[in-house]
Amino acid sequence: MRILVIGSGGREHVLTWKLSKSPKVTNIFVAPGNAGTSFIATNLSLFSTQEIINWVKENSVDLVVVGPDNYLAEGIVDMLQELNVPVFGPTKAAAEIEWSKAFAKKFMKKEGVPTARYELFTDLDKAREYVRTEPFPIVIKASGLALGKGVIITNNLKEAELCLDEIMRDKIFGEAGNEVIIEEYLNGIEISAHAFCDGDKTIMFPSSQDHKRIFENDEGPNTGGMGTIALVPGITNEQLEEIKEKIILPTLQGLKKLGRPFKGVLFPGIMLTENGPKVIEFNARFGDPETQSYMRILETDLVDILFACIEGTLDKQKVNWSDKSACCIVLASGGYPGIYEKGEKITGLENMNSEDVEIFHAGTKIEEAATVTSGGRVLGITATSTSIQGALAKAYKAIESIEFEGVQFRKDIGQKSIK
Ligand SMILES: Nc1ncnc2c1ncn2[C@@H]1O[C@H](COP(=O)(O)OP(=O)(O)O)[C@@H](O)[C@H]1O
Ligand SMILES: [Mg+2]
Repeated sequence: MRILVIGSGGREHVLTWKLSKSPKVTNIFVAPGNAGTSFIATNLSLFSTQEIINWVKENSVDLVVVGPDNYLAEGIVDMLQELNVPVFGPTKAAAEIEWSKAFAKKFMKKEGVPTARYELFTDLDKAREYVRTEPFPIVIKASGLALGKGVIITNNLKEAELCLDEIMRDKIFGEAGNEVIIEEYLNGIEISAHAFCDGDKTIMFPSSQDHKRIFENDEGPNTGGMGTIALVPGITNEQLEEIKEKIILPTLQGLKKLGRPFKGVLFPGIMLTENGPKVIEFNARFGDPETQSYMRILETDLVDILFACIEGTLDKQKVNWSDKSACCIVLASGGYPGIYEKGEKITGLENMNSEDVEIFHAGTKIEEAATVTSGGRVLGITATSTSIQGALAKAYKAIESIEFEGVQFRKDIGQKSIK
């Protein structure tokens, strides 16, 4: 079997790593990939949806796995389906649950899926008027894809008005800010839920938790994610079951009713509030860096699961998870999520991997035979153990020997939940 993985992050490296363990797989191509994927697969210098489609027309592949959201929003799945190429991921219409937060909120209201109370605005004056009447903190979100930066939690009227001006008048997130959601601030524990979906049926992953802020104790600006743990201590099977019954299944049924059956990974960000789980947002793909932890404890052949989703046979598919816990610590470039240097030489990667520790690359590339940084999030150091504490200890130990100029990482991944 020849597989094409689309994307260049840590998620794509770990998916490539997991897929390469399948006895069914002979070749894996990654478009465009990173230094890490180049060691275990064939990187292709393809970036746009059209470049990828053209390549697929010229080359035979048996499965395409789409990593990032922007390709889904551009309809790459629809285009591949037209070419009769098996592809894992939702169509453009099904993925709207991620690429339009406005669509997602209206959909949840209609289907009775629990989420924060909200109002939708396209008019700046009306939005400014609304925030004068609401209690703070208040959450302001650009509706469209904004590289994980389009959500601002404002603490007072002055902040809220400034934020609305920037999004709606100055268009700091471009078109993504044409529609704005203003919603209630939810208190609680934030976790990531993932569910394999075949348009109709679902199999949930165990719980995981990301750490969005750049600094320890959840301070500083949001990032793409600085580290994950899976399983999350304290999260019960009953809570996961409640997420399945109240959120995943009604969403699948609602999308099916709309003629947009969802095949792929449905990944809602969840706030566990005193009134039960509420959706913060929907993602229509594997999380990054959640996937780096998840793939370390998934035992079943991923190829089989992906095909069961595509073919609508999840009810006949087993998905087994090891009884270990996993973590992923992200090493980022100095200055990220603001401006940062690229091209810093990374040392200490040799002979690092053991059965317990695996390093996945994100923003890396090969330059003159050396591995150098090429993005904000650079590496994800993953480890497994019988306890989350054990996994964290191994990952942090491994980090001691890895170096690049300006490296920053959070030393408190998992601590909040362990406490
Ligand atoms: N209603 C809310 N109440 C509290 N925190 C929120 C709320 N909405 C979003 N957040 C916080 O902001 C982060 C980013 O919001 P999210 O909707 O996931 O947007 P995106 O991932 O597209 O940037 C969330 O991970 C969560 O920590
Ligand atoms: Mg999010």
